[in-house]
Amino acid sequence: MKVPELPCSKHFRMGITMKNIQIREDIDQHMKELKAWLAETDDFPPEEMAAFFARRLDDYEEHMSIWKPAYERFAQLFPIACKNVLDLGCGTGLELDEIWKLCPDVCVTGVDLSDEMLGALCKKHESRYQNGQLKTVCQSYFDYEMGENEWDTMISFESLHHFFPDEKLGLYQKIYQGLKPGGLFLLGDYIACCEEEETLLRNMYLEKRKRFGVPQEQFIHIDIPLALEHEVRILEQAGFSEVDVEDSINGATILVAQKC
Ligand SMILES: C[S@@+](CC[C@H](N)C(=O)[O-])C[C@H]1O[C@@H](n2cnc3c(N)ncnc32)[C@H](O)[C@@H]1O
Repeated sequence: MKVPELPCSKHFRMGITMKNIQIREDIDQHMKELKAWLAETDDFPPEEMAAFFARRLDDYEEHMSIWKPAYERFAQLFPIACKNVLDLGCGTGLELDEIWKLCPDVCVTGVDLSDEMLGALCKKHESRYQNGQLKTVCQSYFDYEMGENEWDTMISFESLHHFFPDEKLGLYQKIYQGLKPGGLFLLGDYIACCEEEETLLRNMYLEKRKRFGVPQEQFIHIDIPLALEHEVRILEQAGFSEVDVEDSINGATILVAQKC
């Protein structure tokens, strides 16, 4: 194992650390509410991803405010010596708001499908956008060229739960390749609290795509979170031999994976 170039030894342990993380305390209640919501919204057609967020931009940050403690925790885990970070699905940058409070000099490239979300991010952090500390790319992160050994850190918050394991595997392999040795991938995301939740949402997603004739290449906004073991397994398959499951706050689970 190589010595990491960044001083992030807190995470530099061999293997997978799950700690005693409970994804949700109220699994029965959560599943009951989820099933009721799925029944209520069964007739709603899937919305195209970028359009979904553009339509909700005005209320977006208010809606996400219940995860403020999760964004704060995410920022605490961010490596302080990091110089450049790639944010996948950065949206309006709620995670960046917290990271910049602790690491004001870090340079950020934010990739997102939604021009409107990126516009709000640039407006909020206008001086950083003007001086080049914040760059934005309106593109799918599946298509974004991440390079090789280029990034100190990569992050993603509440974005990747819209994709299937095979799509994630390719992306995680690109992330692994793009990170410098010792670099971290910090993932904060909706993780299914049980296999039943994962299966239920996946089946609904596939059924709706078919019923509403959504073209294969179109990204749609339907949550298909994976159970924790499945998420961790994909990170391992992509090459990350160090994965810590750090916390789970209001259903947002935070994982730290290190390239060794
Ligand atoms: C729930 S928002 C999260 C935004 C931000 N990370 C936060 O936590 O506030 C999900 C974001 O992921 C973006 N997104 C979804 N799929 C994407 C893809 N394939 N490529 C780039 N961005 C994507 C959406 O446009 C949206 O802005």
